[in-house]
Amino acid sequence: MKAVSKISNNLNGEIVCPGDKSISQRSVILGSLLDTDIKISGFLFAEDPLSTVNAMRSLGNNIEIQDETVVIKNSEKSKVTKKVFCNLGNSGTGMRLIAGLIAGQKLNVELSGDESLSSRPMGRIVEPLIKMGAKIESNDGCAPLVFSESILLDEFYFRMPIASAQVKSCLLLAAVTSNMKLTLIEETISRDHTERMLKHFGADIDILTGTSIGAQVIRLNQDISPKRWGSPPLYEGRNGARKISYGSSSDMRVYDIPGDFSSASFLIVAALITKNSSIKIKNVGINRTRSALIYILKEMGGKIKVKNQESSFDEEVADIEVRSSDLNGITLEEEVIPKIIDEIPILSIAASFAKGTTVIKGVGELRFKESDRLEAILQGLANLGIDSMPMPRDNDITIFGNENLKITQDVNIKSFGDHRIAMSFLVAGLRSDAKIYVDDCKNIDTSFPSFFETFSSLGADIKTT
Ligand code: S3P
Repeated sequence: MKAVSKISNNLNGEIVCPGDKSISQRSVILGSLLDTDIKISGFLFAEDPLSTVNAMRSLGNNIEIQDETVVIKNSEKSKVTKKVFCNLGNSGTGMRLIAGLIAGQKLNVELSGDESLSSRPMGRIVEPLIKMGAKIESNDGCAPLVFSESILLDEFYFRMPIASAQVKSCLLLAAVTSNMKLTLIEETISRDHTERMLKHFGADIDILTGTSIGAQVIRLNQDISPKRWGSPPLYEGRNGARKISYGSSSDMRVYDIPGDFSSASFLIVAALITKNSSIKIKNVGINRTRSALIYILKEMGGKIKVKNQESSFDEEVADIEVRSSDLNGITLEEEVIPKIIDEIPILSIAASFAKGTTVIKGVGELRFKESDRLEAILQGLANLGIDSMPMPRDNDITIFGNENLKITQDVNIKSFGDHRIAMSFLVAGLRSDAKIYVDDCKNIDTSFPSFFETFSSLGADIKTT
């Protein structure tokens, strides 16, 4: 599926942010460990979270989709006795988190994925899981991963070699399901949705945050149960953003997922770089380990306002207002990368239309995403006529922005089958006098199925061809 975009001014309107992909997947995995039923609202019905739902069903969980909510009937769980085969499609989060979940249980499971997922590094989870006592075979450090029955250690201590929320969450899930005492040291804090949800659901977890370098120690003591939960709220979604009726199941536990900051980032940058735009995105998750892009874009000159901030189910949500802005280049140090890891492709588009040079340091992890994103960004920018280069260790990216850039000839961009590359370059097209075609946009469905509809509703000229 190909898509095309071209110059669009006056983006205008108000939209509700689609549900968070990371939290949607965690809600199904962690929600299945509870000893009560649970109803999840705000769930992202996109390919990645749905692959996770299917895998969790194959593992014996009764998960129903009812009126835009996901209901996990933990009272109707079935015991798995035979070997289970789960295909996680394109979802790295699904595969790595479920790997932890099953490693901690006595199960025989094979996890596989699509071509992109099968080429991504799994050694980063397999090695520590094996140290914990798990029995796993991999295809030279990649999927498929074959798990056989194992008993894990009682106690484990691990210093994270890379800042990765998927690795951290995998190990936390292995510890939760095997009742292990786990201590994790994270020198650079990655997104902390799993820790927050474990806490919310009542797990005995302590987070000790370091001082100067922002390190944290996570100590997971023992079992998980919803003991911290009060009486179930009759929750209607903040600001009336989502109207949910719990009807007859009013005694069921509920969990509401905030909007996905990563999806919002495409809308934020689109409004900043187009002329005469003013948009409002409601109910966006602004967890501090995820939303550093707001502060970066503000420092670049972006007119962004964060309003109605509040805490919801142990996550922070807010409405975000954005207006057209003149941006300037910026230099970003390696420490911030985990907090913008999924936003670097769209940040590179903002930097392209900014005045001056932008340097983003230490972006090597981009090579291990749904595509080699460093390569995909550099190739795409070169096709748009924007000078950029990897420097000097091949781990930094330098973009020579041009606030007056004019694109006057149609351009074809390769998405490398990567949703975030496809969406980023379609947003770049909103500043192009000629048409920007992006090939292979099918994967936008993995994270933002309403992308085309949402952008059209704001007045953007983006469509599939
Ligand atoms: C995710 C963590 C990040 C991110 C990915 C989602 C998660 O990956 O890039 O899109 O849900 O935990 P890493 O943990 O590999 O950095």
